[in-house]
Amino acid sequence: MSYTLITGASAGIGRAAAFAFAKRGSHLLLVARRLALLEALKAEVVALYPTCDVVVIATDLSLRDQVYALYEQVRSYDIKRWINNAGFGDYAKIGELNLEKIEQLLHLNIEALTILTSLYVKDHAHVEGSQLVNVSSVGGYAIVADAVTYCASKFYVSAFTEGLAHEMQRTGAKLSVKLLAPAATETEFAQIAREAGEFDYAKALPKYHTATQMADFLVQLCESDNVVGIVDPQTYDFVLRDPIYPNASNTAQSQLSVQ
Ligand SMILES: NC(=O)c1ccc[n+]([C@@H]2O[C@H](COP(=O)([O-])OP(=O)(O)OC[C@H]3O[C@@H](n4cnc5c(N)ncnc54)[C@H](OP(=O)(O)O)[C@@H]3O)[C@@H](O)[C@H]2O)c1
Repeated sequence: MSYTLITGASAGIGRAAAFAFAKRGSHLLLVARRLALLEALKAEVVALYPTCDVVVIATDLSLRDQVYALYEQVRSYDIKRWINNAGFGDYAKIGELNLEKIEQLLHLNIEALTILTSLYVKDHAHVEGSQLVNVSSVGGYAIVADAVTYCASKFYVSAFTEGLAHEMQRTGAKLSVKLLAPAATETEFAQIAREAGEFDYAKALPKYHTATQMADFLVQLCESDNVVGIVDPQTYDFVLRDPIYPNASNTAQSQLSVQ
């Protein structure tokens, strides 16, 4: 009975990923704040895949105590794959930020992801077949105007996850570490980032992916030997590749230079 845990499973990419991994025979632990949406998703998944065990957990991962409590709650399950997908964006100039929203963004996009990653690594670094996926963004590799704070949070996710992948390789650990970097994907993301009502992707953008396409890319990444799965922001092709940030951790010289 092995499980895939997905944070941010009530909507968008996480929701589509639930169907994709159930289809591949995985049981599911689905996490988000909106319990009614999680329950509805569970019913849909079980109707399609009756042997799939679906456990739903309603929690707010922008609250540190709930992050630790989630990990304790699921620790007894055999979690083969952990996907830190929950996250949101914000479009505003830095001097005009809604700091209450930004505090939540930093807690969710950075703090919760770091705590959950660290706890999972502690328990699974040497477990054969285990996998951790963090969801970043193309905005985790390039700054987007008026989304600087969000991009900076995703730069953190990309650097932290690529660094972890190097660490796992260097130490001979069994855990495989992956990073998904979507570009525009049709979900609730734009509406929440913009706080300006419904967002019509087809009208506003020349290119974008659906959440189902993105979940298929996520599966491709999980089944590959590559660390990074990123959407090319020009062509919108999905590209599997090695880590992108320079890795200075292999030389004594570079270790000294960052001290
Ligand atoms: N869509 C894009 O264009 C795009 C592009 C690049 C990267 N991404 C990244 O992809 C990931 C998924 O986003 P999405 O596009 O699927 O957005 P979405 O449709 O808004 O889904 C976000 C998910 O995160 C959950 N969530 C939000 N705040 C939470 C909290 N405090 N605690 C627990 N769960 C929380 C939401 O559920 P509840 O509201 O029920 O909690 C929802 O299930 C994010 O990390 C995002 O940054 C998206």
